[in-house]
Amino acid sequence: MRAKMKVEGIHKSIGKDQIISDMSFELGEGESLSILGGSGCGKSTTLRIIAGLTDQDKGSIYIDGRKMDNVPASKRKIGFVFQDYSLFPHMTVEENIAFGPRMMGISRNDREKKVVDLLGLVGLSGYGKRRPGQLSGGQKQRVALARALAIDPALLLLDEPFGALDARIRKAIRRDLRRMQRELGISMLFVTHDQKEAFEVGDRIAIMNEGRFDQVGLPRDLYDHPRTRFVASFIGSMNVITVPARDGGPPMEVMVRPEDVRVLKVADGGKGTFGTLINYMFLGSQIEVSILLGNGKAVQSLMSKERFIMEGFRRGDGVRLKMRHLRYFNGPGQEGVDGTWTAPEKNINGALV
Ligand SMILES: Nc1ncnc2c1ncn2[C@@H]1O[C@H](COP(=O)(O)OP(=O)(O)OP(=O)(O)O)[C@@H](O)[C@H]1O
Ligand SMILES: [Mg+2]
Repeated sequence: MRAKMKVEGIHKSIGKDQIISDMSFELGEGESLSILGGSGCGKSTTLRIIAGLTDQDKGSIYIDGRKMDNVPASKRKIGFVFQDYSLFPHMTVEENIAFGPRMMGISRNDREKKVVDLLGLVGLSGYGKRRPGQLSGGQKQRVALARALAIDPALLLLDEPFGALDARIRKAIRRDLRRMQRELGISMLFVTHDQKEAFEVGDRIAIMNEGRFDQVGLPRDLYDHPRTRFVASFIGSMNVITVPARDGGPPMEVMVRPEDVRVLKVADGGKGTFGTLINYMFLGSQIEVSILLGNGKAVQSLMSKERFIMEGFRRGDGVRLKMRHLRYFNGPGQEGVDGTWTAPEKNINGALV
């Protein structure tokens, strides 16, 4: 179940469109990597190339050091769970799970034992005789998972497997998946466009944008040190504001997280007022506050409920802002500059243009 994988310089075009451009990354033994990206960025194509269901134009896949270029999909020992269940409707749950092992020539006895074990593992003991049409969406995806595991895959690929399920079931099933992945030490690629899901299931996260990975890293690195504007805005929320450059150059666009924007109350008509508190929203222990700036743009700030109440904030309050960890990305081609900048309080007054 444990295998390392290396993807090296993969390119793929369909017609005139470049779908995957120069993609390289590695997956460690027993590692779970989440691939997170918007619709159409090439996530499914990436998985299909790794599984051998689609040919790449250039580049190679290695599993445990072995080049897969000429190895057909059926010989790659890869388990695949698709978004749309894709169970065989005319077969029972047991027959679905035993299908792969049967193709591999595993004996009936061993197959039966495997089916029992896997049904237990995915929490569906007793459901073996049902057909897919007699199962809920979540149960079908559990069967699909058991079927993918039945071939003892070197690698498990999951393509938005829980997309069609409601939020509660989705949460339960992804916890189970994570537990199983850890227990069995499976090497796994998990595709999703849901950030929370990506963080919960992956040891590391790859942020995919237009056919390539912008950044691969630990959730915390992506959040604290996004390498591109895309990653910064894709993970968590970000304000985009314009401030004068530090060296007196032209104004610069910077990004700042809501929790790094501190709102300070200013007495009526007080100096340094440059924003108005226009709205707030209770998120639980934190409050999201919207500040309308003089330039007509709004900035969001997060503060604790205690502070909000203690300071007695109200709609219409004049406020100053103090910001830290401003990130700037110096335009196309120079993206990747990752800096933090604590704006001095006196400079930030009226500094926003
Ligand atoms: N067989 C095909 N013929 C033509 N274009 C294709 C084909 N398969 C994929 N594409 C295109 O390749 C791009 C990437 O598709 P892919 O399915 O990999 O995206 P994705 O990231 O999985 O998106 P989603 O989140 O919507 O599933 C899309 O623009 C898609 O239209
Ligand atoms: Mg897809």
